[in-house]
Amino acid sequence: QELPVKVTIVADATGPRIDRNIFGQFAENLGTGIYGGVWVGEDSSIPNVRGIRTDVVAALKALKVASVRWPGGCFADEYHWRDGIGPRSKRSVTVNGSWGNALERNDFGTDEFFDFVEQIGSEAYISVNMGSGSVKEAADWLAYMTADPRTTAGAERAANGHPEPYRVKFLGIGNESWSCGGAYRAEYYVDEMKRYARFVRNLNLKQQGTDNPAGGSVAGSDPMQRIAVGPGTPGTDYTEAVMRAWKGHDWSWNIEGLSMHQYTWVAWPPAYASTGFGEREYATLIKDTLKMEDMIAIHSAVMDKYDPEKKVPLVIDEWGVWLAKLPGSRDGFLHQQNSIRDAIIASINLNMFARHAERVRMTAIAQMVNVLQAMILTDGPKMVLTPTYHLFKMYLPFQDATRLPISFDAGTYRYGDVSLPRIDAIAARAADGKLWIALTNIDPNEPARIDAQIDGTRFQNASGTVLTADQVDAVNTYNRPNAVIPKPAAARVTDGRMTLTLPPKSVTVLAVTP
Ligand code: AHR
Repeated sequence: QELPVKVTIVADATGPRIDRNIFGQFAENLGTGIYGGVWVGEDSSIPNVRGIRTDVVAALKALKVASVRWPGGCFADEYHWRDGIGPRSKRSVTVNGSWGNALERNDFGTDEFFDFVEQIGSEAYISVNMGSGSVKEAADWLAYMTADPRTTAGAERAANGHPEPYRVKFLGIGNESWSCGGAYRAEYYVDEMKRYARFVRNLNLKQQGTDNPAGGSVAGSDPMQRIAVGPGTPGTDYTEAVMRAWKGHDWSWNIEGLSMHQYTWVAWPPAYASTGFGEREYATLIKDTLKMEDMIAIHSAVMDKYDPEKKVPLVIDEWGVWLAKLPGSRDGFLHQQNSIRDAIIASINLNMFARHAERVRMTAIAQMVNVLQAMILTDGPKMVLTPTYHLFKMYLPFQDATRLPISFDAGTYRYGDVSLPRIDAIAARAADGKLWIALTNIDPNEPARIDAQIDGTRFQNASGTVLTADQVDAVNTYNRPNAVIPKPAAARVTDGRMTLTLPPKSVTVLAVTP
C-alpha cells in the first residue's frame, strides 16, 4: 500500500494575516445576477424585504461576505447613477449594452444596493464610471452616497429614505480600462486615474475621520480604499504605469490598491461545459486555474520594485471559472452550473491567495448569484446553494486568521499529458487561537492518506468537514440540492499524530487542537 503523505504544521510561528477581504464577491448588473437573483421587487410573491429576496440574504449572511463589488464590471463604465435613484416608477429604462442588450429598469440602484449590503452585513465596493462618465459624475455620486444631509447631495439621499451617509469602504477607479472600460493606453489611464483619485471624495466624516465642518475632528478613522485598474494578462504595462505613478504620488492624490483580473477558462471564448463533462475537462481546467500563481508572481514582482514594503495590496477583484453558457440560457447572461470541480478550483485559488497574503489582501469571486462561478443559483422562487458556496462556508475560519507554515509532499496526479500537484494544503491560527487546516485532494480517482504532525507538540483532537462527490461533474440542482454538501470528516488522533483519508476530488477543513 502507498505510504501516507506526511504533513507538518508549525503552530507557534508568526505569519501574515489572511485578510478577510480575500473573501469578497462581485455582483454585476448582468443577466439574473441582480434581477431575479437578488432583487425581486416589493410586490413579488417571493419572500423579500424591501424587494430583496430573503432566502438569498440569509444564505449570504452566513458566508460573512467581506465586500460586494457593484455595479460592474463592464457595466460600470456605462452606468449612470442618476438613472437608479428616486421613485422607481420614474426611473429611466435603459439597455444593458454590455450584457445581452437586456432592458435595465434601474429598479436596483444605489439605495437598493446599500440596503442589500446592510442586509447581508457586508461592505460596499463601488466601481465608478470612467468609460462613458466623467470625474464630476463620479464625484456627485460619491457625494450622494456619503455627504452630510445638510448638503444638497445628502438632502437628496435623505429624501430618498436614507439621511445617514452610507459607508463606501472601497472605490474602484474604472474597470478593465485596457478593454471594455475604454481601451485606454496605460499612460492615459494613469492621468485620468489621478483626477478620479483626487476629486471623487468620500464625504462620510464618521468613516473618513477628517475634520468636521461643525468644528473638531471625528474619531474612528476608517478611510475608503481607492483601487486602480491593473492587469488582466501577463503584460505589465498597467502594473508598471500605475505603480510608478503611485511611487511618485504627492499629498494631492493616492491609491490604496491595484486590481487584477484572472479567470479560469482555458481559452477565449469559454467553451467548457458546466455539466456533463469528464476527467479530461476536470484536469485541463484545474491546470488552467494554476495560471493564477504565475499572474500573482509576475505582477507582484513589478509591485515589489516600486513598493517593497507591500503597502499597496493586489486586489484580485474578478476571478473564477468562466464556462460555456447553460444550453437554453440567454446570450450574454453568463449563466452556468457549478460542480465539485468549481469547489476544488475555489480551494486551490483561496490557498494561492493565502500563500501570497502579504500582497494579495483582497479579492472578489465572479460572481455572487446566477452568473459565472456563482455561490447561489435561483429560478423564480427556487434557490440552490452551489458547491462553491459550501466551500466558501468551510473556509470561514481562515478569515483574518494568521497563516502558518505547513510542509507536505504534494505528489503528482496525471491525466494524459496533464500533470498536476495531487495535494494542496494551508494552515492557519484563527483569532480565537484554534488551528485550522484545509486539505485538497485534486486526484479524482484515488484517495490520499494523510499522516499529520505538529512541529514540537502533539495533536489532542481534530474535527471538521469534507466536501466531495462521486463524479467530477456532480452539481446541486433544485431537485437534488444536497448532492454536494459538506459531511463530517473522519480524522483520527493517535499518539499525538492525526491521520485521515482524503476522498478523491475532495476538500477537507479541520479544526485541530494541539
Ligand atoms: O464578470 C464578467 C465580466 O468579465 C466583467 O464585466 C468584466 O470586467 C470582465 O471582463
